[in-house]
Amino acid sequence: MANTAAPATTTDLRDFFSAAEARTDRWRQLSACGRAWTSAVEMGNDAERVHAEAGRLLHEIAALEAYWAYPGPRLMATVGEAFRDRHAAVFARLVQKISNALLTGGYRHDSAAWDPLEEGEARAFDALLPPDVQSGNSHKPYFEVLVVTPNDPRGWERARSELKRLRRPEDLFVYEIVQVGSFEDGCLGTILNTNVQAVVVYDGFQFQSRHDLPVLRDFLLRSLRVDPSSIAPGELATTLARAVKSYRPEVDVYLLTDRAVEHLAGSEATAPVRRIFHDVEELMEVHLSILDGVSDRYETPYFTNLKKYAQRPVGTFHALPIARGKSVFRSNWIRDMGHFYGTNLFLAESSATTGGLDSLLEPTGNIKRAQELAARAFGAKRAYLATNGTSTSNKIVVQAICKPGDIVIVDRNCHKSHHYGFVLAGAQPYYVEAYPLTEYSMYGAVPLRTIKQALLHCKAEGKLDRVRAVDLTNCTFDGHMYNVRRVMEECLASKPDLIFLWDEAWFGFARFNPFHRRRTAIGAAAALTGRYRDPAYRQEYKAFAAKAGSLDPTNLELLDMHLLPDPDRVRIRVYQTHSTHKSMSALRQGSMILVWDEDFHHVEGPFEEAFFTHTSTSPNLQIIASLDVARRQMELEGYELTMKMTELALKLRRDINTHPLISRYFRIATPAEMVPAEFRNSGLADYGPPTSTWKDVVEAWNGDEFALDPTRLTLICGTAGFDGTQFKNLLAERFDIQINKTSRNSILVQTNINNTRSDAALLIKVLAELSREIDTRLAEGGPPERERFAARVKALMTDVPDLPNFSRFHDAFRDNPKGASNEGHIRGAFFMAYDEANCELIKLASKEIDDRLRSGPELVSANFVIPYPPGFPIMVPGQVITAETIAFMRKLDVKEIHGYHAAHGLKLLKPAALAGRKGAHVDQ
Ligand SMILES: Cc1ncc(COP(=O)(O)O)c(C=O)c1O
Repeated sequence: MANTAAPATTTDLRDFFSAAEARTDRWRQLSACGRAWTSAVEMGNDAERVHAEAGRLLHEIAALEAYWAYPGPRLMATVGEAFRDRHAAVFARLVQKISNALLTGGYRHDSAAWDPLEEGEARAFDALLPPDVQSGNSHKPYFEVLVVTPNDPRGWERARSELKRLRRPEDLFVYEIVQVGSFEDGCLGTILNTNVQAVVVYDGFQFQSRHDLPVLRDFLLRSLRVDPSSIAPGELATTLARAVKSYRPEVDVYLLTDRAVEHLAGSEATAPVRRIFHDVEELMEVHLSILDGVSDRYETPYFTNLKKYAQRPVGTFHALPIARGKSVFRSNWIRDMGHFYGTNLFLAESSATTGGLDSLLEPTGNIKRAQELAARAFGAKRAYLATNGTSTSNKIVVQAICKPGDIVIVDRNCHKSHHYGFVLAGAQPYYVEAYPLTEYSMYGAVPLRTIKQALLHCKAEGKLDRVRAVDLTNCTFDGHMYNVRRVMEECLASKPDLIFLWDEAWFGFARFNPFHRRRTAIGAAAALTGRYRDPAYRQEYKAFAAKAGSLDPTNLELLDMHLLPDPDRVRIRVYQTHSTHKSMSALRQGSMILVWDEDFHHVEGPFEEAFFTHTSTSPNLQIIASLDVARRQMELEGYELTMKMTELALKLRRDINTHPLISRYFRIATPAEMVPAEFRNSGLADYGPPTSTWKDVVEAWNGDEFALDPTRLTLICGTAGFDGTQFKNLLAERFDIQINKTSRNSILVQTNINNTRSDAALLIKVLAELSREIDTRLAEGGPPERERFAARVKALMTDVPDLPNFSRFHDAFRDNPKGASNEGHIRGAFFMAYDEANCELIKLASKEIDDRLRSGPELVSANFVIPYPPGFPIMVPGQVITAETIAFMRKLDVKEIHGYHAAHGLKLLKPAALAGRKGAHVDQ
């Protein structure tokens, strides 16, 4: 079939992100064409034109099908024959059958899908239904193996049947094989075919594909750093192994060679290879290794044990009556709970940590193993499972790495768990500001220049040794992704043992596709570790050190210079937290802490203490099990799912912004609107054609200071006259659509691995309906209605309150009030408010507030005040309240403001109490 393939044409971004989606689309198109051809033949008109159109589509499809096992050469040849022999009805039936099988995934378990003569596809949709309404038996998971071989394609069919003969009933999985004959095709197969779980490389193949693939060549060079001109003879197979692993780290690579395998096996070049075989060895070993590799990822030690536990007749005399369900199933009054949740949930409940169930607090068995597997999956050195959300994971990490008096440079807009963490640990936050996006009432992320300036301030004031960590949110709620590598590299230049806490609450999924991965904390930790070990880096550093000298903190030029850390002193110390439940298939509150800390042995004790401090002694078993399963899923289908969700987001962006009716009132904010030009050197303004290709995106994501995660869509609704909260409620109440968060004039729509194209269609339909309603209202309401609408839009889009920056801690909470660094004793301020005599309440709208702002004494917040939205503390304990903050509070039209009760007023620390605070060190 590869012989009939046409040269590939230039592939755009959409094609790369969406190989699987675009493929099913093309088949559906061909199917429609097949039907049209059949009726044209029946009607006796236009048959020639439709036949030619079918030929063009088939030709286009054939080029890509070489990289997938299904429909495979046999079915494709039959389709080709039907086309050539002009059997329109046969052609239409076969194409429809393939198209359905691809859409439903039916080919994965239904042998009829592979047989050109079989008609049946009745149960094809069964696999898409929830388990309790499926009619068929469960089947073995299916995957595909990509074989890169120098052998003559004429022998491929025979090789495929030989491997098929090895299948045994006791195999846990079934797989099919796809063969390709070159390095480039091996890469393309890995990129396009999301079913591929293993790549088997036979030594001796050529580099170049038979297809013309300029786009791939460019991608290999830029993204996977594969330069064909510099690959030494004999290194093609190992270079391919490296390329495959760097693109999809979870995939297993096997090497078959007739060279001296004993020598090869110990070399650095074969490190990415799971097993090396001598070419002449039995195929059975390869087959078993492939199954074993997938089984390693399929393994869910905790979940599997919990299922076993649920089957045992356990008598319980501990304090968890719900376990085994008898109190529910036999009840007169709560039996519906049993019906609703099903029996297994109750059988799987336990408070035991023995008998096959491990302890989350002191794991030695299957939880420990589940954590090791999670570390492998996410590319970290260690992983910890957590059952109380990332709110708790953040507090654990802050307490583990900080002691009282340590300084943490932190984004003021970070989640409140960090701020509370500082209170608990006694750490002093040095707040740095993100750039504002005032027009949308939200913040972006913190510019690197600001972070470097904070470090230089600390250095100038002689307290760099107390700066323990930099703490940032990646990506932010609204999708701003840091250039994590660059941030860490430049900060480490100032302080080589600095710790980083990256709150990736929303971004856990990002590990599993190569586009997002470059912007993750753990991805960056791995990249920097490799970079600083490379002898070429030493040369780079030498040249830098000669130019930059000793990094004089008063030298402002350093702020604009790319700073480099000393390779002999640098330590990679990275902590990542993520809400597994926010982007993967984990139950609510399922969260993980990932660690890549070269000095973890110094932190392990405090980490344990912090874990004990914050973790319930009765953690929820189902959450732990779901974390285990979520990890399995991402290791096996994370690539496919995250690519699909990204594609869906790109499509939604494009469909909404180019829709003639919808775009009159609604718009998805583009990267150009969400990231100011100064942080987008690449100039990338929007995703997808006609503005950009995938190549532009990769370049932007590699180099730009900030990039926008396309899966987080800020939908501007102020232009349609809705404020964010109003629009959120409207979507929920009228259309059953739930969205993530709101700002004054926007809502955040998030695509995740759960979303389908039907979800996207629903949103578009609703926006079209609302746009039509507005159109009608404006047309029927005449000038008064149009004026009213324009005024509302102006109020929402233009008259937006300025976002208040962090002002400063009151002098009573600062060691050196005159210093440029702004860290303060937040813990002291927080606990001062526990004594009511230290506090006063003043109404927000009162004249007293204005008088105090004008003539003092300063207003100092006694607690956190966190409005939702925007969801960050506009006041922290000990902070001086400025006129800007008051103006913002007075303009706030949201109902939920944590830490503020309108009826009571603002809670402040009394000036007398502040004056009485003797020395800032008292709370340490
Ligand atoms: C940046 C960030 N970190 C942490 C959290 C808390 O995560 P969880 O809901 O898992 O406790 C959130 C929640 O919205 C968040 O936005």
